[in-house]
Formats: sequence, C-alpha cells, structure tokens
Amino acid sequence: MNLLALASVGCGLLLLPLLSPSQPETTFPAGGRYIGAAMCKNCHNGADKGDAYDHWSKTEHAKAFETLASDKAKEVAKQLGIEDPQKSEKCLKCHVTAYGVDKKEIKASFKAEMGVQCESCHGPGEDHQKKRFAEAMKPGTTPSEITADEIHASRSIDTCGKCHNKESPTYKPFCLKERMQKIEHLDPRKKRTDEELAKLRATDGPDCEVCGATKDAAAKKEGADK
Ligand code: HEC
Ligand code: HEC
Ligand code: HEC
Ligand code: HEC
Repeated sequence: MNLLALASVGCGLLLLPLLSPSQPETTFPAGGRYIGAAMCKNCHNGADKGDAYDHWSKTEHAKAFETLASDKAKEVAKQLGIEDPQKSEKCLKCHVTAYGVDKKEIKASFKAEMGVQCESCHGPGEDHQKKRFAEAMKPGTTPSEITADEIHASRSIDTCGKCHNKESPTYKPFCLKERMQKIEHLDPRKKRTDEELAKLRATDGPDCEVCGATKDAAAKKEGADK
C-alpha cells in the first residue's frame, strides 16, 4: 500500500476531521488541489525562472521523508513504540506535505516522498498552475496580479509553527528570522531596494528567545514603564 492510500484509510476512519491529530495543513484559503513540487518545478526552476525549485531541493525540507529512514529516526521512533517512521502518522504528519488531507484534494502528480514541499508553505497550487499556464499559452498577455487566494506567499510563524513545535520529538527552539535566512529563495529577477528587503525580513512573530527579541521587548517595556 502506498503512502497516500494509507493516509486516506487513516482519515476515513476519523469522521470528524477536527479530532484528527493529523491535520496540520488546513489553514490555507482554497487554491485547488495539491499538485506537488515536481509541478512547481516546471515553471520555477532555472536562473531564468527564479530558481525557487533548485533552492528548495537543497534544503532539509526536501529530505524530510528520507530522514525518517535514518538511524536517528529509528532510534527516536523506537522510544515511542513506533516500528517504521516512514509509515507512521505520528511522524509523517510533519515530514511530508498534505498528510491527512482528503484524497480528493490531492492530484495524482503529487508525491509525498518528496517531503516538505512548496505547498506546505504556499498552500495548494492547482488554481495557480491553471491560471499561469493559461496566461503562458497566450503570449503578449499582461500577467494578472497574484492574490493570496491563488497562491499564498508571505512569512508567518503560523505556517512554520504547524510543524516546528513542541510536538516534534526532536524539537529545537524556533526563531522565524533565523530560520527564514536558511531557506530564503527570493527571485533574483525581482529588484528590491534595501528598505524593501529589510521590511520583508523583519519578523512579526512572537517574541523569540533564540534571537533575543524577548530581551529586546522586555527592555523596551521596562523603558516604557518608567
Ligand atoms: C504554469 C506555470 C506555473 C506553475 C506550474 C507554477 N507557477 Fe508559480 N508562478 C508562475 C508565474 C508566471 C508567476 C509570476 C512570475 C514569477 O514570480 O515567476 C508565479 C509566481 C509564483 C509565486 C509568487 C507569488 C507572489 O505573490 O509574488 C509563488 C509563491 C509561486 N509562484 C509558487 C508556486 C508553487 C508553490 C507552485 C507549485 C505548487 C507553482 N508556483 C507552480 C507560474 C507557475
Ligand atoms: C509541513 C511541516 C513543516 C513546515 C510547515 C515547515 N517546516 Fe521547516 N522543517 C520541517 C521538517 C520535518 C524539518 C526537518 C527535515 C530533515 O531534517 O529531514 C524541517 C527543517 C527546517 C530547517 C532546517 C533546520 C535548520 O535550521 O537548519 C529550516 C531552516 C526550516 N525547517 C525552516 C522553516 C521555516 C522558516 C518554515 C516556515 C516558513 C518552515 N520550516 C515550515 C517541517 C516543516
Ligand atoms: C510536530 C511535527 C513533527 C512530528 C510529529 C515529527 N517531527 Fe521530526 N522534525 C520536525 C521538525 C520541524 C524537524 C526539524 C527540527 C529543527 O531543526 O528544529 C524534525 C527533525 C527530525 C529529525 C532530524 C533531527 C536531527 O536532529 O537530526 C529526525 C530524525 C526526526 N525529525 C524524526 C522524527 C520521527 C521518527 C518522528 C515520529 C516519531 C517525528 N520526527 C515526528 C517535526 C516533526
Ligand atoms: C518552508 C516554507 C517554504 C517552502 C517549503 C517553499 N517556500 Fe517559497 N516562499 C516562502 C515564503 C515565506 C516566501 C515569501 C518571501 C519571503 O518572505 O522570503 C516565499 C516566496 C516564494 C516565491 C516568490 C519569490 C519572490 O522573490 O517574491 C516563489 C516563486 C516561491 N516561493 C516558490 C516556491 C517553490 C516553487 C517552492 C518549492 C520548490 C517553494 N517556494 C518552497 C516559503 C516557502
């Protein structure tokens, strides 16, 4: 049985999706179905197309499913009484995209084995793919503006926190600013001023122990109280 079949069986047993512990992926507005990273690659790979795919493929996210086959993963799993992490909901829900999502919401092109893919952060890409493909088929068309309903593209601790949280057996404190630096894949063709970049990189996450934002905030508050 493949992973997706397994996912849908597991899901069908749970009548109330809200009670399912395996649903970290449902916070996005409708964008159609999940299409998988290989589909995004068609339009977002190579220097002339912004290189987002190539960049992602070198991050830990692309290896998140593979990681579940490592000795370390097996050791972690054993302590929790889990035999095969690559087959356990308790691990897959954060190590692959769209785990626990209804099968109807997932296109055949989607491969869970590709790990934590684009759509974990950008939301399902089918509507975006269709729209941009239609425009590409009509040369000379002025590209229409991309809205968050079509494809979600902004930093948010809520997005990362679906997986980077204390439910993870190997949890490490998470600082949005610091971690975003490691995975940033801005399109070099989009010219941004230093000011625009600074604004983009400023995080609006909660106070962070890791980067010292908590200390800064506390210091500011103390100053304000005086
Ligand atoms: C048929 C081609 C096509 C496919 C497939 C495609 N995109 Fe895009 N995408 C575009 C075009 C064209 C743009 C606008 C120009 C650009 O940024 O390259 C765009 C822009 C974006 C943006 C920037 C949005 C913004 O607000 O500026 C994101 C994020 C994005 N795509 C993500 C994805 C993801 C994730 C997938 C796969 C689920 C995907 N794309 C699949 C063509 C495509
Ligand atoms: C669907 C779950 C999921 C989401 C959403 C997610 N991550 Fe991750 N992330 C993981 C997993 C799992 C790993 C570990 C992969 C491995 O080691 O194989 C990881 C690893 C990482 C790493 C590599 C570890 C390191 O610090 O060097 C960074 C950086 C990272 N994530 C940043 C982010 C940021 C920033 C966001 C939000 C914009 C985010 N992640 C959203 C699951 C997720
Ligand atoms: C709540 C989400 C979540 C769950 C559930 C989860 N993981 Fe992870 N896992 C992560 C994230 C996020 C990372 C990246 C850690 C970081 O850099 O902060 C990670 C990293 C890892 C790593 C690499 C850690 C390292 O230090 O090298 C292993 C191994 C791992 N997970 C195994 C498992 C196993 C086995 C299970 C199931 C028993 C599991 N995970 C369940 C989110 C999760
Ligand atoms: C861990 C979360 C995460 C993953 C995985 C991810 N992205 Fe992104 N991506 C973001 C965020 C957040 C932004 C918004 C820009 C920023 O804050 O740096 C972004 C921005 C973009 C942009 C717009 C770049 C620009 O200059 O405006 C494109 C295009 C894009 N991503 C495509 C992809 C594709 C294609 C994949 C998969 C191959 C992917 N992303 C994987 C989080 C992610």
